Amino acid sequence: MIFDTFTIKSRVRPVPDFPKPGVMFRDITPLYQSPKAMRMVADSLIQRYVEAPITHIGALDARGFLLGAVLAYELNKPLILFRKAGKLPADTLSESYATEYGEAEIQIHADSLEGGERVLLLDDLIATGGTLLAAARLVHRMNAEVVEAAAIIDLPDLGGSQKLQDAGIPVFSLCAFG
Ligand code: PRP
Ligand code: ADE
Repeated sequence: MIFDTFTIKSRVRPVPDFPKPGVMFRDITPLYQSPKAMRMVADSLIQRYVEAPITHIGALDARGFLLGAVLAYELNKPLILFRKAGKLPADTLSESYATEYGEAEIQIHADSLEGGERVLLLDDLIATGGTLLAAARLVHRMNAEVVEAAAIIDLPDLGGSQKLQDAGIPVFSLCAFG
């Protein structure tokens, strides 16, 4: 299938002032409702990473899980869940962070990685980069490496993708909203 940005971007719904005034929320639920657009997203990411030297897929709670599961299945890699605090039942490592509209904490299970692994981080969207940077800190604390942080959408005006790159983390996104 030929990738075209319009197919993706036209299925991202802008919702002003959600979840608080001043935020232009980029709603990806119409995209997830479109098999054509989802196939394009999945195929593009699979093609990009099928030969990449990654050992694990790391998916971000919650919208990143949907992509993470598809990629882990297709690339036949273990899937690590980066969950919002309080959801993982066994021993965890935690990192706090700020996003465009709040503060949060993510956790991974302490036995998710042993050291030396090469992790592809996946989320639906990069805004301030707080979420993916926190996930990268967790990967680094486990002596593993982030090969790339990938998302469907980048919001470059919010500076997150630049912050990730400044931190030495390669970034890939399928489209951007300025
Ligand atoms: C959204 C989105 C990313 C994050 C991006 O998640 O799915 O994970 O914000 O923002 P950032 O780059 O500023 O960190 P949210 O925290 O709203 O959680 P959800 O996926 O559970 O809706
Ligand atoms: N996560 C952080 N900022 C967001 C936005 N503007 N739209 C959708 N998800 C987001």
